[in-house]
Amino acid sequence: MDPNRDNPILRFTTFWWGIGSFLIFAVVLAVILLLNRKAPQTLEDAAAKPRYEIKARVDAAQAANLPKEAIETAIPDVAAKLAASKPTAVEKPEQVVPGSPTAEKLASAPPVDTAAIDAAPATDEPPDPAVMAIGKVQFMVCAACHGQNGEGGPAAPPLAGSEWVNGPVSNLIRIQLRGLQGPIKVKGTEYNFPGGMAPMAYQTDEQIAAVLTYVRNNFGNKASAVKPEQVAALRSEVGKPQVTAAELTQP
Ligand code: HEC
Repeated sequence: MDPNRDNPILRFTTFWWGIGSFLIFAVVLAVILLLNRKAPQTLEDAAAKPRYEIKARVDAAQAANLPKEAIETAIPDVAAKLAASKPTAVEKPEQVVPGSPTAEKLASAPPVDTAAIDAAPATDEPPDPAVMAIGKVQFMVCAACHGQNGEGGPAAPPLAGSEWVNGPVSNLIRIQLRGLQGPIKVKGTEYNFPGGMAPMAYQTDEQIAAVLTYVRNNFGNKASAVKPEQVAALRSEVGKPQVTAAELTQP
């Protein structure tokens, strides 16, 4: 009989040593994992990382090019130049503030020669389909008030069969560039909408020419196409108060 191998107490102790060392190993492993735990990386963190990197690079580049002191010394110089500069006249008509001195000056400007614009030779050519396509898109704004088929409604008089629409081109351009207010007779009915129609001068000459060509050749209307040059010739009208029917060429 082997006193070591066959001693049950000794064999039992070895078993507990085994369990014990296994447990110690498990605890050490748990501690290591616990200490090395990182915060879970979210998608936002991952996305933000390159942004922080770029910001750091931009900051570094700016610091290298323009030191803070250089900017601070330049500021009084720039401010002095700004204070001494005179504002230049507003040349873009769409920037004229209603009721401002510029707007008043524009209002007292001599009237444009609309006769020359309306004297454009009338042609029987059908309107350019490409122009009509642009006009159709632009007309969606008009349709909000004048109706999908220019039939008129609670917000605006009809465009279909209107003697104004089929009449002199300059009237339509001026209505669009300046808006319209006051009583206006369309197809025998007198309309006078409170507030009238607002100017829509933000569109380009091409777009205005196209939308007017579109309304002049749709909903049963038949009239000459409107050319962008005719619109351009009346751009000086922009900024003047809403036109009245009395100021327009009677159709
Ligand atoms: C916000 C509503 C509104 C929009 C948008 C609008 N209009 Fe008008 N329009 C009016 C009103 C209101 C009148 C009548 C003004 C008055 O009572 O003096 C009018 C009158 C007219 C007239 C003269 C009267 C007639 O029926 O023939 C024409 C032409 C005209 N608009 C064309 C246009 C065109 C072209 C567009 C789009 C580029 C347009 N309007 C967009 C409200 C609008």
